Amino acid sequence: MINETEQFVRAFHATDFSGHDYAHIERVRKMALQIAATEGGDLLTIELAALLHDVADEKLGGTLSSVALFLSGKVSDDRQRHILQIIDGMSFKGGDRPPLETLEGRIVQDADRLDAIGAIGVARTFQYGALTQAPMHVPGLRPRKPGDRTSPSSTINHFYEKLLLLKDLMNTETAKGIAEERHAFMVEFLERFQKEWEF
Ligand code: NI
Repeated sequence: MINETEQFVRAFHATDFSGHDYAHIERVRKMALQIAATEGGDLLTIELAALLHDVADEKLGGTLSSVALFLSGKVSDDRQRHILQIIDGMSFKGGDRPPLETLEGRIVQDADRLDAIGAIGVARTFQYGALTQAPMHVPGLRPRKPGDRTSPSSTINHFYEKLLLLKDLMNTETAKGIAEERHAFMVEFLERFQKEWEF
């Protein structure tokens, strides 16, 4: 089941250059299982949800129904419902969504959010910025307000609009600990960036 899912997911992400390549999926899977080792939870549901979490992402051309179709007949109805509920509920969408209902969901969401911060987070953000043709930095341009997806922005502003907020949105104690260190690195990166930009 895991192998089959891996093949399916690998094919979906094969041509991704937006920071959501298969290596991202592998890191989320590994991190989710690592968090689960201390926090608990059903490992099969966690691993499948982690593997499939971006296959439903509309901005990557995915749909939730393609995940449902893949899972049907392969896992129990309950497990399928749970996995779909996790994937549907875990995206950021301005940061004002209710917390996920189950431990498994909270763990996978934490793992995905941890991959958006720290050094990997910085790298993925610039990769995504280049793909969407966002300017790297525009001095004086203020970060967008939550929910605003249309005003001009920049890759540096994305840190203030989303990435620096993720530390306080972690669900589990294990993820909070890892997030502290990664957050501190991003703050340091932004300080150095400003310093070198302005010198
Ligand atoms: Ni993801």
